[in-house]
Amino acid sequence: MEILKAIESYPEIRLRRLRKRKEIRELVKETDLNVDDFILPIFVREGYNIVEEINSMPGIYRYSIDKMIKFIEKNLKLGIKSFILFGIPNYKDDLGSEAYSKEGIIAKAVKEIKKNFDNVIIATDVCLCEYTNHGHCGIIKNGVVDNDHTIELLSKAALVYAEAGADIVAPSAMMDGQVKAIRRVLDTNGYKDTIIMSYSAKYASSFYGPFREAAYSTPQFGDRKGYQMDYRNVREALREIQIDISEGADIVMVKPALSYLDVIRIAKDNFNIPLAAYNVSGEYSMVKAASLAGWINEKDVVLEILYSIKRAGADIIISYFAEKFAEWFKEKQ
Ligand code: PBG
Repeated sequence: MEILKAIESYPEIRLRRLRKRKEIRELVKETDLNVDDFILPIFVREGYNIVEEINSMPGIYRYSIDKMIKFIEKNLKLGIKSFILFGIPNYKDDLGSEAYSKEGIIAKAVKEIKKNFDNVIIATDVCLCEYTNHGHCGIIKNGVVDNDHTIELLSKAALVYAEAGADIVAPSAMMDGQVKAIRRVLDTNGYKDTIIMSYSAKYASSFYGPFREAAYSTPQFGDRKGYQMDYRNVREALREIQIDISEGADIVMVKPALSYLDVIRIAKDNFNIPLAAYNVSGEYSMVKAASLAGWINEKDVVLEILYSIKRAGADIIISYFAEKFAEWFKEKQ
């Protein structure tokens, strides 16, 4: 009788067996994170010998091209190979001309990087908001963004960046047909191998606040809800991604990351092309502020966040924490 009872209650479930020792935890971990999963954003501006800290993003800087080269060099040594550039032009106008000028800040920056390094991957954001005096992502006609005129200018910008040597162009304006227009212009000009990473599911988010301070790109009137996604929607994100894939996107993106881990997961489960997630400026600044106040342990919180983005399904993580991660990763080796 006693024996039967013992058999009935057997086996005793002990999940803790797999958690007890660090070595075993390493063995059974489900998610891995590596330096080459990351793309590090860089703000590049005109001028010389300038390293300017961004008020709302402690530890993140605007660099002039010469200083940007040093910053990239340092990151390459840490193992970060991919960067996405955001340009801060000297002047803005209502057509965002500096975005697609061959002498614009991004064209110059990409050329300089490619002159200095062979093994680097350079992505460029393709949008007009940093270059327009009104701060919107496209051209304004009768008070609203003119989609079709904007995609012409975005295609022009993408071509200029590809000519300068960009490996990846990343349209982020949320204009309909932008991927198709860019793909066509790249292909007809001999840039068939330039990769398009589309900000497919880009939500109208207040988490972009610090970025807009960094790039001086706050809209001067209205908001971006007329073209970026409503955060109450998720099926719409699938549709955005599906359309971008059919228009020729090579990599698709969900942005921001943290309030949208469900969107990352569903995108991962539904599509079979590389998926990026953008751990945006506001997500950076919140963590930074709390850690500077001594309220959280920065390293622990950042790792938890970055792993959660990977676990949700992101293949690529765009993050201002990439450099820090690389430093910690190096220490661990
Ligand atoms: C548009 C663009 C933005 C970001 C990346 N690309 C700003 C916006 O849409 O307002 C935000 C990134 C971040 O917040 O870190 N060029």
